[in-house]
Amino acid sequence: MAKSAPSTTTSPIRTVSHDLPVSPELASFMASGWEAAPPAGDVRLPVAALTPARRARLSARFPGERILVPAGELRVRSNDCDHRFRPHSAYTWLTGLGGEEQAGHVLVLEPDGPHGHEAVLHVRPRSPRTDEGFYRDRRYGEFWVGPRPGLAEAERMTGIRCVALGGLPPGRNAATDADLASVLGELRLVKDAWEVAELQRAVDHTAAGFEDVVCALPRAMAHPRGERWIEGVFGLRARAEGNGTGYETIAASGAHACVLHWIRNDGPLDARELLLLDAGVETDSLYTADITRTLPLSGRFSPVQRQVYELVLAAQEAGIAALRPGAGFRDFHRAGMRVIAEGLAEWGVLKSAEGDFHRRYTLCSSGHMLGLDVHDCARARAEAYLDGVLEEGQVLTVEPGLYLQPDDETLPPELRGIGVRIEDDLVITAEGARLLSGGLPRTPGAVEEWMDQLLGG
Ligand code: GLY
Ligand code: MN
Ligand code: MN
Repeated sequence: MAKSAPSTTTSPIRTVSHDLPVSPELASFMASGWEAAPPAGDVRLPVAALTPARRARLSARFPGERILVPAGELRVRSNDCDHRFRPHSAYTWLTGLGGEEQAGHVLVLEPDGPHGHEAVLHVRPRSPRTDEGFYRDRRYGEFWVGPRPGLAEAERMTGIRCVALGGLPPGRNAATDADLASVLGELRLVKDAWEVAELQRAVDHTAAGFEDVVCALPRAMAHPRGERWIEGVFGLRARAEGNGTGYETIAASGAHACVLHWIRNDGPLDARELLLLDAGVETDSLYTADITRTLPLSGRFSPVQRQVYELVLAAQEAGIAALRPGAGFRDFHRAGMRVIAEGLAEWGVLKSAEGDFHRRYTLCSSGHMLGLDVHDCARARAEAYLDGVLEEGQVLTVEPGLYLQPDDETLPPELRGIGVRIEDDLVITAEGARLLSGGLPRTPGAVEEWMDQLLGG
């Protein structure tokens, strides 16, 4: 059971039952003899040049009202061990801050006259060496979790006035106010050039992670839980290059690929099967890629695997061709699903391409906005997103799939247990869309050749 000791700073010191007591003599010895603390983050963030305009757009939507955008709180995993912290995306978008030390911080937009707001960041001050928290507090002590920027440093990093975290005034809170959450989602729908560049970095690191996975296939296939091995290999790249994975990696072999979000990843890899890998690296700035490739574990698609793959690829190409400013968000989905339905009818799986019976085999919508969150802008209202039109600067995935369940009696036996998804990330341009993930192969021939090269075949 965690216990608390008094602290002279913002919160009680977090200690646990196996912490040794501190004698007054030790406490006094610990309190002196330290050099002046070196700065913990003192450089203006490049994104700080962009955040004032973002905050101004938010301010304009709520004149005269106080707005609170919390980074969020640490969550206990067990006892004194917390889950790794990632700030809420709206907080990061408005402040540029994305580190683990942001837990508990709150951006407040204080009404400043009838129209504008002043941004004030409520942050935890550094723990001074006169306060025993720096070596005793397991949650926030600098000797436990590392230093954090002080108020002046955070101010220099963000360009936002910083005050010590304390009791917060009432106001519209993004964590609880549905209207504010919707507005924050909608303001993030169109990405600026800096965000698109961050997304491209996320995609490039993800492509490197996919290559790592192919190179690791021989060892993964020799392991009884090869899917886990693949998850680990991709996770290594994600953690080495960025903040980690933007969502739990889906490493689904054989019929596991028919489960949309197979993240148990506890199966073996069989050379006769396909591997569906859906994974994304999240940059340190917290932008994530979301890419899926479906690979033949033998290095060669079988005729029936290729047949399914080719249909999904044709659907994806039809979807991508439908992307342009002014097109309805649902248009690319409709275009792709039309191809799938016609293909299924041609195979005799469906009696006709009409109606929505193809959805038995496609299960979900074939794309979504992408950005700081994998399912970005999820709180945007339908009229701005699902029923809205595409705009230049939006970034989204196109990810049709066919999920032919192993126990589906409507399917001929040879098709059962095959799952294929092809997922790419694109930015809407004035002319149409630009593929951010074009560095990874998509056609069956290009996939085979790529695997050959990486495996030295
Ligand atoms: N990785 C989750 C998705 O593709 O939406
Ligand atoms: Mn996706
Ligand atoms: Mn995905």
